Amino acid sequence: MALTIAPRPAGTRIAGLGHYQPPTIVTNSDIIARGVDTNDEWIRSRVGITERRFAMDETMLDMAEVASSKALANSGIGAADIDLVILATCTGQQQVPGGAATLAARLGIQTPGAYDVNAACAGFVYAVASASNAVLAGDAHNVLVVGSEKLTDYVDLFDRGTGIIFADGAGAAVVTASDKAGIGPVVWGSDGDNAAAIITDRESNTLRQEGQTVYRWATSTMGGVALEACKRAGVSPDELAAFIPHQANLRIIDLIAKKLDSASAVIARDIVTSGNTSSASIPIALSKMLERGEIASGAPILLVGFGAGLTYAGQVVLAP
Ligand code: UT7
Repeated sequence: MALTIAPRPAGTRIAGLGHYQPPTIVTNSDIIARGVDTNDEWIRSRVGITERRFAMDETMLDMAEVASSKALANSGIGAADIDLVILATCTGQQQVPGGAATLAARLGIQTPGAYDVNAACAGFVYAVASASNAVLAGDAHNVLVVGSEKLTDYVDLFDRGTGIIFADGAGAAVVTASDKAGIGPVVWGSDGDNAAAIITDRESNTLRQEGQTVYRWATSTMGGVALEACKRAGVSPDELAAFIPHQANLRIIDLIAKKLDSASAVIARDIVTSGNTSSASIPIALSKMLERGEIASGAPILLVGFGAGLTYAGQVVLAP
């Protein structure tokens, strides 16, 4: 026998985005004033950050909630119509339960499917792809996708390798059905042999990263991922309105952009004032670009996430 499957839409699209960044700005001078063995020139030239945002009282879920409310309002899709919530985070408030169901309850979303994704800095792109696939399969109609991180809970702020880089924030998107494809095929993959390159130290519960290993991997691999995501979506790099790579390091962003070699794309450089917010960095940068009116509705945008795992994911989406 064959089982009945749900009716399937022709495509999916992002209907709206929103973001939240904590109001507390921490400059490089503030970091140095804490006694961290670093300097402003090194941080600017090697990483590209001038300031970042640290959450104070806000929890990871508080930030997710605000970003989600904005995404719902911008999408025109109400909480009552969301039937799946996917929360991308690697800074969950506890091991169990995951945060997605609690987030849904806080937003007044009734009995949705709800789960967390831990693909670190690639998490938002994984979550958008999973949301799109759920809608394309007919298993969900409207999906809330969130990337939210309170990295300051898991970073030794006195460690010069991580304390100067990571920060807090959240970004969210609503994925829904469409009569044409507004979310392209995902190019995703991983390199588990190098899993130890970014890892939570069990004793101190803080993040450690082998910066050079990750830098070499990202700069040698992500250009190809970016080009392949364009190819699979049937979009030339010269047709892109924007390129939004994970905001890990300005030098990495510029090297991947050079390999993409797009004559048209605005390159997201949100790291300069936001730091590295892991799974939140792509939706925050995208939401801010849309708010500033830098991307026309329907224009193609390339997203490329990469990070702990090691994991990566790239995808072209059309602007809401
Ligand atoms: O989001 C998840 C994915 N993560 C990434 O993509 C991160 C990728 N990696 C990177 O972005 C870079 O490797 C870092 C920003 C983490 C580090 O930059 P780097 O250029 O790779 O620095 P390094 O660790 O190789 O150190 C170079 C020099 C060393 O000095 P010497 O030995 O050359 O004299 C370090 O001691 O820079 C020194 N250094 C610093 N100096 C001032 C390292 N950290 C600092 C610091 N301030 N914070």
